[in-house]
This record gives sequence, C-alpha cells and structure tokens, in this order.
Amino acid sequence: MIEIPLIPDPIIHCDFDLVYHPSEDSFLILDYLKKKINYSYFDDILITKIGKILDLGTGTGIIAIFLQKIKSSNPDFNPKIYASDISEEAIKCAKLNEKANNFNDEIVFLCSNLFESFPDNLKNTFNIIIFNPPYLQSSKLIKNKTKIDFSWNGGSKGYNLVIKFLKNALSYLDLKEEHYIYCVTSSRTNLKEFNKEIKNLGYKNEIVKNQHIFFEDIFLNRLKYVLY
Ligand SMILES: C[S@@+](CC[C@H](N)C(=O)[O-])C[C@H]1O[C@@H](n2cnc3c(N)ncnc32)[C@H](O)[C@@H]1O
Repeated sequence: MIEIPLIPDPIIHCDFDLVYHPSEDSFLILDYLKKKINYSYFDDILITKIGKILDLGTGTGIIAIFLQKIKSSNPDFNPKIYASDISEEAIKCAKLNEKANNFNDEIVFLCSNLFESFPDNLKNTFNIIIFNPPYLQSSKLIKNKTKIDFSWNGGSKGYNLVIKFLKNALSYLDLKEEHYIYCVTSSRTNLKEFNKEIKNLGYKNEIVKNQHIFFEDIFLNRLKYVLY
C-alpha cells in the first residue's frame, strides 16, 4: 500500500480564552488518522466511497483542517468536510485557522448544539463522524458555568453527552454505506456501563488507540451501527 507522504499538523492559532486548545486527546485522533489514511483507504473504508465527513465539536478546527490537508495531497480523497461546534467562538477561531492553512471557505462550518441546527438535507449522509467530546464527569464544585466548561464537562456520568450524540448520530450517518464514528472516552468514567449503553443502541465498538496521561487513560473508540 502506498503511504501518503507525512502531512504536517495544521497551523493552529487559538487567541480565544474560551476555545479548547488542542491537547493529548486531539493528537490521539490525529495520530490515528495519520496512520490509517492512505491513497486507497480511510481505515478499512475505500476512500472513493466517502462523500461527507463531520468533525463535531471542532474547537480550533484542528481535525477538520487536517482532513482538508489530506484532501489536497490525494486527488482520490474528495469528501466534503463539515465542522460544527456549540460555541460561536470556536467556529470563529476554526474559520480563522482554515484561512491560516491557506484554505478558502472549503470547510462547511455549522454552529450547533449536537445536530440541533443541522439542515435536514444532511440527514443520512455522513460516512465518518469524529467527535472529541467533553468526557469528564461534572463536578458539584463548579457553580458558575463558563462556556469553556462545554469543552470538558460530559455530565454527571462523563459520557452523558456522548450517549445523546450517538442516539442522534443515527439520523445523520449514511447507514446504507460503510461508516464509522470515532470518539474519545476516559478511564475516569464507568466504561463498562458506557459500553453496555452503546451496545443497547445497536453500535459495535472497538478501541483502536489509547494513551496514558497523568491520572487517566484516554481511548479512541471506533463505532459502527450494526442493527441496520
Ligand atoms: C474536548 S474539545 C475538542 C475540540 C477539538 N475537536 C479538538 O480535538 O481539539 C470538545 C469540543 O466540543 C464542543 N462541544 C461541547 N458540547 C457540544 C455540543 N453539545 N454540541 C457541539 N459541540 C459541543 C466544545 O465547545 C469543544 O470545542
């Protein structure tokens, strides 16, 4: 298999206090994608079969812009890249970073709480959805929520938002074609319970990469809906 020449990480500026700076979890995803996308395949899906990719919770836009860079280096890899975030500042920041990487309005940006503000014509269309979500348990000590809490606060169990995302994602994935969802989880949440819940939703889950950082392990999950 011919490997794509190493694609450098995108240039990322983040002058916004309320936008998540790319961290270990962001690079866990980038490192995986660097290894798993070549001239023919995105993981084990033929790249010619991939029409749309969504980077949900894009933050600075790092993952969406990285995918846009891969598009520039491989003429057969031609999906439309979408990037969304609940935070208007994140969308502003990601648009600036798109320009800093010499792309001009190529990525479609959407400001949306999960899929709430997505147009209906995006239903059943995404082959790949990537979500580096807020995945830590919310602490009772936080009384005044600021917007940056949206970057890490995953609710009382840590994975509440991911479960809501996975339920809603079923309407936006192209289930008739090959598809994958990639999302990050943490050992600081009850992963046994999480896995039971996603199995009940009809997903098959594989952990494809992990990393130990400070007091936790973070995992990159690859999910596929199997009950279609
Ligand atoms: C851990 S950060 C990841 C940012 C970026 N993808 C990265 O890897 O560096 C989580 C992102 O999800 C966004 N987010 C949180 N809740 C969301 C929701 N309900 N809908 C859409 N985006 C959300 C946050 O604003 C934040 O930008």
